[in-house]
Amino acid sequence: MLTVLYYVVALTFSAFFTVLKWNKMRYSKPGMPPGSLGLPFVGQTFKFLSHGTQFMKQRKSRYGNLFKTHVLGSPMVVSMDPDTNRYILTNEAKGLVPGYPDSMKNILGTNIAEVHGAVHKRIRGSLLSLIGPIAVKDRLVPEIDGFMRSYLDNWDGKIIDLQEKTVEMSFLISLKAVVADEATSFIETFKATFDKMAVATISLPINIPGTDYYSGLKAREKAIPMLRELLAKRRASSATHDDLLDQLMKTEDGGHKLDDEEIIEQIITIMYSGYETVSTTTMMAIKYLYDNPSILQEIRDEHFEIKQKKMPNERITWDDYKNMKRTRAVILETMRLASVVAGVMRRTTNDIELNGYTIPKGWRVYVYTRETNFDPILYPEPFVFNPWRWLEKGLESHNHCILFGAGGRVCPGKEWGMVKVSLFIHYFVTRYRWEEEKANKKLAKFPRVLAPDGLHIKITKY
Ligand code: HEM
Repeated sequence: MLTVLYYVVALTFSAFFTVLKWNKMRYSKPGMPPGSLGLPFVGQTFKFLSHGTQFMKQRKSRYGNLFKTHVLGSPMVVSMDPDTNRYILTNEAKGLVPGYPDSMKNILGTNIAEVHGAVHKRIRGSLLSLIGPIAVKDRLVPEIDGFMRSYLDNWDGKIIDLQEKTVEMSFLISLKAVVADEATSFIETFKATFDKMAVATISLPINIPGTDYYSGLKAREKAIPMLRELLAKRRASSATHDDLLDQLMKTEDGGHKLDDEEIIEQIITIMYSGYETVSTTTMMAIKYLYDNPSILQEIRDEHFEIKQKKMPNERITWDDYKNMKRTRAVILETMRLASVVAGVMRRTTNDIELNGYTIPKGWRVYVYTRETNFDPILYPEPFVFNPWRWLEKGLESHNHCILFGAGGRVCPGKEWGMVKVSLFIHYFVTRYRWEEEKANKKLAKFPRVLAPDGLHIKITKY
């Protein structure tokens, strides 16, 4: 019996080491960056997801600014050098196309990150006309103002979970821009479904019950028919609506009229791209303001100055928003210090030479922008919340500032997102004071910025 056991253990060990060796050989080519790939298939995914920032730091100190690893089902090179990062983002044509994990593609469908060249240009152009700076100035600022005004009503005396509220705000404001007047039952079901999809976009693509990925795929199966039904309802009605869905249905890009599948893809792109980015930035901005009372006072002064020039129900305009210079600085500093976007991903379409190394075709490249956010040359005292650094001319447009990406993929929703956060701050600080509840101490920073137990605050009238 013992002999049998011995052979079983010996065989298991030898199979394990053979697979490890095979995995190493499969991915080893001369001239590749240093680093280790971990176990076959799962690679170093668990360490990456659970100890992300530490994982990056350790490897940087061992291997330098460019190293290889294997996460989320794919071999990957991580880049931390600001110049290399910029080079990667501005050289899509050399074979560095967006390369988000399979989980993201399978859950979101053929979204903007999946298309390149002329098709990307067309879809991006159509998105920019819907949510780009001109659309924000002409149409979206009044809509956001109306939303925030009523969303932030009646919070006096309440204890709220700010995280829950900012997530809800971010979702509702995008959904209402897409479909202006849907029933509450649709909104609630769609939110619950979409949330499952969003969580699954950064997960190991293991399609078995109980995994995030599995429930994300199930949620997608439910969300697509909901959107199809929405389109059919619109087509069957002669009423017009002042929303993005009506515009998408009318859109003709250079003679190309979007079909239903393309409209659904655009809706998912709009809902997903501006969701967590806006909610997390809003939550963290309020958190940093609370932790820095003198900065909060300056922000209050800025907003009361705007408010005092207005009639009680007069709307905030684009010009008012443009005058919120200190608020813009707070938002940028929040994005930097909290690293709302930790990095962006690319995939190589051919072997690429980078800093003297070869990155094989089909590998992922993780442009880890978080590291650049703490570059002491660009941001002296990088761990201090100092929004006023952004008032200096040129920092926002500095080559190494890639909070919103760079190159042909730079964020088209930047101003839309900034206006949402700015107007949330406007109504929040001019209407309320708040105290953090004691049990709020935990904040996770990677791969998502979030408060695992919520961020509970007690609100009183200002
Ligand atoms: C305010 C917070 C936001 C931040 C920090 C942010 C950040 C970014 C970053 C870093 C990228 C580059 C991704 C890459 O290179 O792969 C990006 C792209 C993108 N963002 Fe944003 N974003 C924000 C808000 C929004 C909003 C509100 C929308 C609205 C729909 C949006 C839509 C997009 C889209 C569609 C892309 C892909 C563009 C392309 O591939 O051409 N973003 N964003």
